Amino acid sequence: MDYLFAEGNGRVITGKDKIFGISTLAKEAVARDGRENVINATIGALIDDQGELIVLSSMIDVLKEMKPAEFAEYAPIAGIPEYLEILPRAVFGDYRPDGYIEACATPGGTGTIRNTISCYSRYGDSILTSNWHWSPYNIIATEIGRKVETYEMFNEQDQLNLKGFEEKIREILARQESIVIIFNAPAHNPTGYTPSDAEWDEIVAILRRCGAGGKKITMLLDIAYIDFAGDSVKARQFLPKFGNLPENILVITGFSASKGFTFYGLRTGAMLCVTPNSEIAAEFKRVTSFASRGSWSNCVRVGQLALARVFNDEALLKKVFVERKAYEDLLSARCDAFRDAAAEAGLKTCPFSGGFFVTVPCENDDAVNEELFKDNIFGIAIGGGVRIAISAISEEACRKVPAKLAAAIQTVNG
Ligand SMILES: Cc1ncc(COP(=O)(O)O)c(C=O)c1O
Repeated sequence: MDYLFAEGNGRVITGKDKIFGISTLAKEAVARDGRENVINATIGALIDDQGELIVLSSMIDVLKEMKPAEFAEYAPIAGIPEYLEILPRAVFGDYRPDGYIEACATPGGTGTIRNTISCYSRYGDSILTSNWHWSPYNIIATEIGRKVETYEMFNEQDQLNLKGFEEKIREILARQESIVIIFNAPAHNPTGYTPSDAEWDEIVAILRRCGAGGKKITMLLDIAYIDFAGDSVKARQFLPKFGNLPENILVITGFSASKGFTFYGLRTGAMLCVTPNSEIAAEFKRVTSFASRGSWSNCVRVGQLALARVFNDEALLKKVFVERKAYEDLLSARCDAFRDAAAEAGLKTCPFSGGFFVTVPCENDDAVNEELFKDNIFGIAIGGGVRIAISAISEEACRKVPAKLAAAIQTVNG
């Protein structure tokens, strides 16, 4: 890659944004053929059946009551005290893992990923995640001089490939002093996969086994979709399994208010550590605050304040949860509709149970996706498959897309 004036520093900066390009095509199709004749499954946000962004009005009401100074004032680097106070409850609910917990505000879940990599890996290190993953992980890692390595997420029986996960951790730890693992669940992006209880147990057992030699393991639980993984209370039940781990295993939970509280653009999130060692927890606070100061400085104040107000007012919290429940159900209905239609059409998908996306593995994914354009259906080819944002399309569309996708795969791949 050549640069005119800029320095590449190992980064591949093409300037091409695939999602933006396809969503432009979808918008052109809407202008040409009308909204009702276009299925735009590119958007990673919850969209209603009329094509409008869903925004929790109960959260907006809280924002509207804020005073100018509450908007304008800086927040402390690590977050405002009332936000830090409610975070363990907001993130873990009734399922708080045992250990020392410290928190640092971040601009969305993205900030947690950046700070975790910057604070807990060395320059040049490999960060581990599954082959199916949210592509910005690569950008975030290479931007700060690290790279991403992957293991196959599913085995031939379409189960979580825990053997491959363990092998890859061991392989990396054989050449690195430590490892950062990014594990996105429940309701993984882009597959919609949620590990079972037994799988979570085995994941924790793997971490224990791989850490037995004393090397440092940082397990980042990217829970960006936890509030849309079916039932948001049950979705948290696995969290206590990540308490009481040995000292050389640091658990970091990446909280994002983008989806769960529809604060996408308000850049509100946090990273919370869980460790049996109070000094490691104190260090977490220190190093993550430093990393924040050296990148975005402080985070949006009103986002933090709004969450603190909601979690400190039972009536308000109930209102938000009741409002959100309707949207959780809307998404679950879309998910069920897609599953039934896929079964009927004989369409193989990655195993899924919730979340914003479903992924259909296929060869020639770009060509398959382009074939769908002919039916005014717009997904994203993600390398090895097509990702459909069920968060952005109606239940009716979820019933339609699988047969069209099966036909497109047949046309392209025979
Ligand atoms: C898997 C995953 N992690 C983290 C994020 C971070 O989102 P945000 O920074 O908007 O909170 C996203 C957003 O799409 C995501 O898909």
